[in-house]
Amino acid sequence: MKELRQRIAGARRIVAFTGAGISVESGIPTFRGPGGLWRTYRAEELATANAFHRNPRLVWEWYDSRRQIMAQAEPNAGHRALAALERRCGGFTLVTQNIDGLHNRAGSRRVLKVHGDIWRLRCMDCEHEADDFRTPMPDLPPRCQCGGLLRPGVVWFGEYLPRDVWSEAESAASGAEVFLTIGTSAVVYPAAGLIDTARRGGALIVEVNPQETPYSQSVDHSLRGPAGEILPELLG
Ligand code: OAD
Repeated sequence: MKELRQRIAGARRIVAFTGAGISVESGIPTFRGPGGLWRTYRAEELATANAFHRNPRLVWEWYDSRRQIMAQAEPNAGHRALAALERRCGGFTLVTQNIDGLHNRAGSRRVLKVHGDIWRLRCMDCEHEADDFRTPMPDLPPRCQCGGLLRPGVVWFGEYLPRDVWSEAESAASGAEVFLTIGTSAVVYPAAGLIDTARRGGALIVEVNPQETPYSQSVDHSLRGPAGEILPELLG
């Protein structure tokens, strides 16, 4: 651990790539772990444009319940360690698959949200976009002033990732000296492909996760444990 800490402390270009696991210690369930089912639905059945067209109210009930959990959650030591790293390291890039906003609330300023943001709503008709932090939403599904349905500003299965955000994430990954993959099962693409991009660019790859992932055998260091304990020790 000491050598690895020094290597990270000396690196100029560091990328942290986070998933739902970093918010577990804040009380937010992951998608695939225990508590990852909502009623009897899996995320893949609700997070699609088809599901929304079929039953916008049902899909919104799911997002509304997640917004309530997220609003009550506080950032943890893992989020804070990454915010502190950004302040210290000019060449640091944070890429997250999370939509919960906890990195921002921990003090991270530049967050590449490749799967969007649950607090940003977008009209399906006129495309007007605005932040909306109300929990619970007064009416479901919420509507735009133009009368159109509002959707959460998140990326659904089958949709493209936000183009500019994704290209910044890819270029940071390809130029990284150190790439930290934290709290992600690394099974959802294209996001998980950033690990391969970083590896091709010659980065040292470090995984932080209490469980094994498909990348655990091939990364340079696989640190088994919760992000809220490992990150402060690794980056502090
Ligand atoms: P998953 O639910 O697939 O994986 C969460 C990971 O966090 C697992 O590998 C756990 O072992 C790990 N984990 C659990 N507790 C942890 C802790 N305390 N510290 C660190 N790691 C911990 O979540 P993601 O990988 O984020 O996409 O899922 C990827 C994408 O699938 C999500 O962004 C979402 C989902 O469908 C979209 O909505 C487009």
